[in-house]
Amino acid sequence: MTTPAPTGLFVSFEGGDGAGKSTQLRLLGGWLHDAMGREVVLTREPGGTELGRTLRAAVLHGEDVDPRTEALLYATDRAHHVHTVVRPALARGAVVLTDRYLDSSVAYQGDGRALGADEVERLSLWATDGLLPHVTVLLDLDPAAGLARLDGAPDRLERAGDAFHRRTREAFLRRAAADTTGRWLVLDAARPVDVVQADVRTRVAAALGAVSPA
Ligand code: TYD
Repeated sequence: MTTPAPTGLFVSFEGGDGAGKSTQLRLLGGWLHDAMGREVVLTREPGGTELGRTLRAAVLHGEDVDPRTEALLYATDRAHHVHTVVRPALARGAVVLTDRYLDSSVAYQGDGRALGADEVERLSLWATDGLLPHVTVLLDLDPAAGLARLDGAPDRLERAGDAFHRRTREAFLRRAAADTTGRWLVLDAARPVDVVQADVRTRVAAALGAVSPA
């Protein structure tokens, strides 16, 4: 008798800067590990690998680059991340939670930098050999509220301006609304952390085929 192939679950968190992605991801990861007994891999883009950390420093804190170079830097980070971290973890049966994935490129470079959503999506799909998340949680928040939550000096993307951040927010919402795969969960991130987290758990539990906790 053959054992069935392990089935991992791939969840991405998307949204504007300061929307609370990393907090929600950490809380979800703790619950999946402690209460659900799953192997959990917490990761991020850009910067989920050693090469990715170099690329992250270059794209966020390096010299100014044109939009196409910026898109390629994110795509390079993503290709290496998927190949060396995400796919191997999914093959082991782990749950992979990533702080940003290809929808960030479509929103930030496709719409924010006006390179075109379809072209940027094609670039990312090529980079990842077509890997899409099972669930994508969009933490939607007014960009002004999100940026006000951040501390420290703003990076190159955070400095891109109000109109840029409004375009990326609209792009995320439009993309989620147009999607036909059912992978998106759009949440109002202005609500308290635990209320948002409860919605995330319900959805991820359903995706795991498990019963959601009370
Ligand atoms: P993030 O790690 O969320 O920023 P922080 O650690 O400051 O919260 O993301 C870094 C920035 O990179 C963010 O402004 C969004 C941007 N970004 C893109 O423009 N395209 C992409 O494909 C990704 C993954 C991120």
